[in-house]
Amino acid sequence: MNIVLLGAPGTGKGTQAQFISERLGLPIISPGDILRQEMKNNTTLGKKAEKYVKSGALVPDEIIIDMIKERVVDRTGSKGIILDGFPRNLSQAGALEQMLGSMDKVIDRAIYFYAPEQKIIERLSGRRVCRNCGETYHVVYNYPKSEGVCDKCSGELYQRDDDKPEIIRQRLETYNSDTAPIIDYYSKKDYYLQISADDDIDSIKVKITEALGD
Ligand code: AP5
Repeated sequence: MNIVLLGAPGTGKGTQAQFISERLGLPIISPGDILRQEMKNNTTLGKKAEKYVKSGALVPDEIIIDMIKERVVDRTGSKGIILDGFPRNLSQAGALEQMLGSMDKVIDRAIYFYAPEQKIIERLSGRRVCRNCGETYHVVYNYPKSEGVCDKCSGELYQRDDDKPEIIRQRLETYNSDTAPIIDYYSKKDYYLQISADDDIDSIKVKITEALGD
């Protein structure tokens, strides 16, 4: 099953991608995670992407589309993929259809998560991420057993640079101008469904399980 997760920053795409991945045994392809890893490793790609990620803008399509295509092709043998954060504009949506089509594959589900902006800001401001394994926490809603320490690998938790208030504002602007139009595009497809993310994490897992129907 090929699943696309859509929604504004902080609606919980990454959190639920992890749940779906464990449930269905599908690999996650997340451009945000890949870019942060490239930036951490100071690669050519990471250096090119850094100024966009740090300012809350989209990284140019010519960088992102090739980066995703490589991962999608690499996972041709798996029984599907979860795309968390791709596509984010109409040109990426077209590129995704092309890349899947060239492998005789299609999108099976596009799930749009929506939540009020105030909730989103609260979630992003309180998010903490493991420096080592990338596991995500929240200081109020999803906290680790020991403060500042990852439950899974004991790595150090940190706050993403783009989770600072002024960058959150910019990311939401970028979402509204560039990404929101693709929701309209996907809402006309028969594989589209939407889920309110204005609920606790476990309740959303239940809704996803019902929506995926297995
Ligand atoms: P990316 O890392 O993808 O960021 P994003 O889309 O802004 O999404 P987030 O990771 O912020 O939020 P999420 O929806 O995954 O929420 P999460 O589950 O973590 O992208 C970063 C940057 O990379 C972009 O700004 C751009 O520069 C670049 N980029 C990425 N993709 C690109 C593309 N396709 N094209 C061009 N550029 C691209 O949850 C958030 C917090 O809330 C966590 O603390 C979590 O624990 C908590 N939480 C989750 N669910 C709930 C709940 N139901 N109740 C309470 N708390 C919750």
